[in-house]
Amino acid sequence: MSEKDPGWKDLKIKTAEKNALRIKGLPVGRKQSKLPVIQGGMGVGISLSGLAGAVASCGGIGLISAAQIGFRRPEFDRDPVSANIASIKEEFQKARKIAPEGIIGFNIMVAMHGYETYVKTAAEAGADLIVCGAGLPVDLPAYTAGTPAALAPVISSARAAELICRMWKHRYQRLPDLLIVEGPEAGGHLGFSPEEVEEKGGRRFDEEIKRILAVAETYGGNEAIPVVLAGGIYDRADVFHAMEELGATGVQIATRLVTTEECDAPSAYKQAYLNAKKEDIVLTKSPVGMPGRAIRNEFLRRAAKEQIPVKACHKCLKKCDPTKIPYCITDALIHAARGEMEDALIFCGSNAWRAEKIERVEDVLRELFPLSFPER
Ligand SMILES: Cc1cc2nc3c(=O)[nH]c(=O)nc-3n(C[C@H](O)[C@H](O)[C@H](O)COP(=O)(O)O)c2cc1C
Repeated sequence: MSEKDPGWKDLKIKTAEKNALRIKGLPVGRKQSKLPVIQGGMGVGISLSGLAGAVASCGGIGLISAAQIGFRRPEFDRDPVSANIASIKEEFQKARKIAPEGIIGFNIMVAMHGYETYVKTAAEAGADLIVCGAGLPVDLPAYTAGTPAALAPVISSARAAELICRMWKHRYQRLPDLLIVEGPEAGGHLGFSPEEVEEKGGRRFDEEIKRILAVAETYGGNEAIPVVLAGGIYDRADVFHAMEELGATGVQIATRLVTTEECDAPSAYKQAYLNAKKEDIVLTKSPVGMPGRAIRNEFLRRAAKEQIPVKACHKCLKKCDPTKIPYCITDALIHAARGEMEDALIFCGSNAWRAEKIERVEDVLRELFPLSFPER
């Protein structure tokens, strides 16, 4: 069989799985996942208890996104922080019911108003893992002290990995339990400018990943800090590349899991993924200036041309000034979560156009990890 034979890669993956992928899950504090996969947190309202519980019950790690999680509560407009706190507790309990033994955590963005309060609420509710990106979570260990929550910063460079390890070691005498590396193919807000996405997209980010793996080894000592790769991981070949060719401990997957029955997004949102063509996946600037990836639609066309009035501030991002933004990102994401697609910002990863059908979480995870999938 030559390297060009399409069957060759499949055989190589199968052999590798027999050797490695089958045995390892991810260490999460006192627990160990059966599958080496984290379901990426997706706000607003895209990864709640339904998706996180389904992934956790299959042996992966399910993440509930805390981003404006309380948007359906009656008090949200008046007091978004209290609404979010109540929904963090409620969604966690619902996910725990779906997966009593599973690993369930939260994705909580550093850039959010109320970040510290949300982290404390999630850890006290019993979250197994807290994942924090959109800023460096320098003081995260202080907010979870006295709880068993494992901690995972999301980083996009070796510099950031070095910085967080050094700071946590110095200030808190501990290291991250996992390092999640989010590359330029990811969905939602990105840690890269459009120029950097161009320059570092696809496999061109591999060199930075190798540098991050080196940091994880240096700081981990005898046992390297487990590194989980995120961004553009969609099929078995991607898992194989991340874990076998690059040497990551696991993968974080978001976009592929949007088009599942269990995903908490409304069906119109999932349909937008199914309808999207490659050229519909675009980079856009969010109101606070951060680049993000989304599906081009009527809303994005309108937002590029005109100011969309901001009716009320929902206290989402710390750096936002509601008098200076072209539209309110919370409103646009809540419209998406409600299936009001004319007014929706539809975040997605670069592979969203590849979705062909609505699948079950179990089938996706079986396809990605056929030999390691646990008996149920
Ligand atoms: C619809 C959508 C919403 C997302 N929302 C968030 C978020 O609120 N906070 C965050 O840290 N990451 C967010 N992400 C990033 C994911 O957690 C994940 O790391 C990334 O998308 C992985 O790449 P993939 O989508 O190609 O699998 C989002 C991604 C998507 C697709």
